[in-house]
Amino acid sequence: MTDAQPIKAVPTLPDAQTVTFVQHWTDRLFSFRCTRPLTLRFRSGEFVMIGLMGDVDPKTGKQKPILRAYSIASPSWDEELEFYSIKVPDGPLTSRLQNIRVGDQIILRPKPVGTLVHDAILPGKRLWFFATGTGFAPFASLLREPQTYEDYDEVIITHTCREVGELAYGAALIDDIRQDEMLAELMGEGFHEKLRYYPTTTREQSPKMGRITDLMRSGDVFRDLGVEPIHPDNDRAMVCGNLAFNLEIKDLLEGYGLHEGANSDPREYVVEKAFVD
Ligand code: A2P
Repeated sequence: MTDAQPIKAVPTLPDAQTVTFVQHWTDRLFSFRCTRPLTLRFRSGEFVMIGLMGDVDPKTGKQKPILRAYSIASPSWDEELEFYSIKVPDGPLTSRLQNIRVGDQIILRPKPVGTLVHDAILPGKRLWFFATGTGFAPFASLLREPQTYEDYDEVIITHTCREVGELAYGAALIDDIRQDEMLAELMGEGFHEKLRYYPTTTREQSPKMGRITDLMRSGDVFRDLGVEPIHPDNDRAMVCGNLAFNLEIKDLLEGYGLHEGANSDPREYVVEKAFVD
């Protein structure tokens, strides 16, 4: 046949999307990209439910999907979707999801929601993103969103992980953004100086060690970055990490005089749990 058409992946699952790229960052972390349904609209920073089909239930003879909440790590303008995930050896979903390859299908329930969105915070001068572990994911989206730089004079992302290798996904993304000529052109002069990156580790030696919460209490983070301590007149914050971290940083932010916002009631900061298996 001379007019043969290329074979297209035929979706066989409900809400199926096709994996287009997979990268393993450490033995515990990986990221992947997949096709984006034309109808899926979301705000940078939101999350969706994604997953895979589970085993056949011997009682019913049917397969049920295993779905978990995942922050969309790609920005709202991206043609594809990106996700950043932990690998839990006996996790119902991630023990399988970590084996996906290009061409495989995942399930995506196209109902984005979340509080880590620009709409949920009041205008300010400086925006802080505080992340631990895979809590970096929503900020990977927001850091590629032009509005982030349009709305603020300064954007500071802190990322605390146990080990240096766990910072790699975030560090590579920051490098990409700094070299992104299109974003620089779009944002105009001064864009590169706006973005500040503050990675720290707690269990392996690195240039900056310590939990971000301790570094805030000691004032180190403000001295290191050469900025004034957080103040409700100027500073806004978005927080995404493990539960203990979220609670501790909420306390700190409230202590600086910031209040928690929501989509329906924008204030000075917002928090979301990093989703894990
Ligand atoms: P630490 O190593 O001191 O526990 P995890 O991988 O467990 O989700 O942790 C990610 C990072 O968050 C680790 O560096 C961890 O530090 C840090 N962390 C855990 N709990 C808190 C907390 N309550 N406040 C600040 N950082 C925390």
